[in-house]
Amino acid sequence: MRQKLFGLTLSCVLFLSPLSVGAQSGRIRPGEQWRDNHGHLIQAHGGGITFWKGMYYWFGEDRSRDNDPSKRSVACYSSRDLMHWRFCGKALALPDPEHLGSGWVLERPKVFVNTRTRKFVLYAHLDDAHYSFARVMVAVSDHIQGPYRYVKSYRPLGEESRDIGQFIDEDGSAYLIFESRPTHGFFIARLTGDFMNVEKTCFIPAPLEGGAMVRVRGTYYVVGSHMTGWEPNPNVYATAPALTGPWTEFHNLAPAAARNYGSQSTMLLKVVGTKATTVIFMADQWRPNALWDSRYFWMPLRIGDGGMHLPPPRPWSIDVTTGEATLSAADR
Ligand code: GAL
Repeated sequence: MRQKLFGLTLSCVLFLSPLSVGAQSGRIRPGEQWRDNHGHLIQAHGGGITFWKGMYYWFGEDRSRDNDPSKRSVACYSSRDLMHWRFCGKALALPDPEHLGSGWVLERPKVFVNTRTRKFVLYAHLDDAHYSFARVMVAVSDHIQGPYRYVKSYRPLGEESRDIGQFIDEDGSAYLIFESRPTHGFFIARLTGDFMNVEKTCFIPAPLEGGAMVRVRGTYYVVGSHMTGWEPNPNVYATAPALTGPWTEFHNLAPAAARNYGSQSTMLLKVVGTKATTVIFMADQWRPNALWDSRYFWMPLRIGDGGMHLPPPRPWSIDVTTGEATLSAADR
């Protein structure tokens, strides 16, 4: 609960305080603890960002230690600058919706805005402890921050679906990216009008998860990680002139030995400003034995000459008005 102080909410006061910690001080620090306006560790693992009415909303797996163990939660945070995040509450706190049994999972939630139905639609990977259910789940809300109401689970295109990703094209079309193990690849699938189903756009025959995508200057870039569970591996990218392909071979985003600086992709966020366009590589540094303290790895990508490069971690900042990212030289 937020407390009132002279008519202002306490969260608002902390939001402005110079005593705030981590990225609340105006820098994004890949791999360090990142705290919200209350000083709590941000719980938005395997997450995604939805831009709506001038505000960024960050949704992700809420792995808080004090969560009700029978439920799975999605937390929501809001920000105008991508550096300071205000906790908006749990968008979803879901009891087992499909008799999945103990150890069931809800992972990689992403929220889509359907301007036609005026609904916010949350997709996530829903599974049992053995990852054999392999479906997506859908929940809806009239408000972006929730609460979201569970609607259903399904297998997109009738296929097994595990890690999911989200892509919104420049014309506003919304796509679900999902990994499908038996096919040894992943699908890019356009959401139908009500966002309750998908239709096939493209299948990429590469067994990759943590799928993410962005379009820059007419080229589509898809990113993914190899299948090593929580263990980091060299993440890769491919490009195409159209969503339907043809796609190039996959190349490493960073030197292979760096194993993607210990991180796994979750989203590519494009910030288009008055002076520049920055694409942020959003990833997770998982801590399987302390998931609540898993870290976020966000860095601006270098894109040019048809390639994409993930630089080593450094504190940095972004100006969402100009779109410019500034890497700090020595800040640690
Ligand atoms: C990863 C996947 C995560 C989670 C994890 C469990 O490969 O990307 O979202 O499912 O495996 O081992």
